[in-house]
Amino acid sequence: MTDPLELRARFPILAETTYLINHSLGAMPAEAETRLGEYAQTWKTRGVRAWGEGWWTMPMTVGDQVGRIVGAPPGSTVMHQNVAIAEAIVLSCFRLEPPRNRIVYEEANFPSVRYLYQAQADRGAEIVVVPEGESVAAAIDERTLLVPISHVLFRTGEIQDVEAICRRAEEVGAHVVLDAYQSAGVVPLDVTALGVSFAVGGSVKWLCGGPGNGWLYVRPDLAERLEPTFVGWQAHARPFAFEPELEYAEGAARFLTGTPNVPALYAATAGYDVIEEVGIARIRERSLRLTALLIELADRAGFEVVSPREPERRGGTVTMRIPGFQAVHRELGERGIVCDFRPESGLRIGPHFFNTEDELRFAVEQIAEIVETGAHERHSGAVARF
Ligand SMILES: Cc1ncc(COP(=O)(O)O)c(C=O)c1O
Repeated sequence: MTDPLELRARFPILAETTYLINHSLGAMPAEAETRLGEYAQTWKTRGVRAWGEGWWTMPMTVGDQVGRIVGAPPGSTVMHQNVAIAEAIVLSCFRLEPPRNRIVYEEANFPSVRYLYQAQADRGAEIVVVPEGESVAAAIDERTLLVPISHVLFRTGEIQDVEAICRRAEEVGAHVVLDAYQSAGVVPLDVTALGVSFAVGGSVKWLCGGPGNGWLYVRPDLAERLEPTFVGWQAHARPFAFEPELEYAEGAARFLTGTPNVPALYAATAGYDVIEEVGIARIRERSLRLTALLIELADRAGFEVVSPREPERRGGTVTMRIPGFQAVHRELGERGIVCDFRPESGLRIGPHFFNTEDELRFAVEQIAEIVETGAHERHSGAVARF
């Protein structure tokens, strides 16, 4: 078995920076560059023949690889550009009409998800927003159509009690749409065992697959009978017959749209391969060790930890509220320590399996030194970006 730390050399940015922002943009494996080169080579030499030699089916074949990581059976996961598109396709399967037109979502969902559902209020949906800290399960009833929730909250890294929400949704016939962006690749996830109707995520973060890829899992029994209305020619049973009328493809393929984002798919699999090679169980073990150390270091430095302390509720990120964290973040960046912050939450630090304990000690020491000396004050007024 590969020692996670031996894999550091495969992520060039780790030699240049203290890279603790894997909850935002996971470090790029060097292999991704090689695969992008293969993409260009294939385009150059094979031209249009490349479609028949793997390009056309990449949303399904790459989706199957994500499926292995998140517990989805082959043929149930397809690739898209991002989560907003994946959730819009889910939404397009349903009529927003009483008696089942409620969308119950948690306030702490990521903006792509919140905005999409908010925008349905004028199209017949009744939107129920569950404030942070309140029970999503308790807000679900027979009027509920969709329950878009996050497995791990993006601001605090808190793991949600998805099982309880799924049980309640199943009792009343509502569909859970699980956003697993902040868990896939770092926290164990089994969409089949959970029984969710849909799950979505993307490559940018813990899967280290870069931008341009979102994934959509559809529970196989639903994929057979739902009919998305946000659709394109890849969703047709016989796309190359160019038939005038829509006839849905079998299974998850009907949840595709138009021409796939081929270069992004090439880049992504390098990250997925490493995640599969190390394995989620070992990644989780290491992540818990690193985040526990971060909490210990923050406590010692007197910083307020906003993320859960209980390991079973803690995802891969530790958020700390530090005085002037916006400006502290800017100063850290100038010192080669890469992390981020979210307004009203604090500094987010997201070590992946390849980070070391020494990097965390160095980062927290630097934060303490910055706060003590006021080195950050020259950056006051800094705002969140990326
Ligand atoms: C929980 C979560 N969902 C979704 C996204 C991204 O959504 P999209 O793929 O629409 O950009 C992010 C972060 O960028 C996230 O943290």
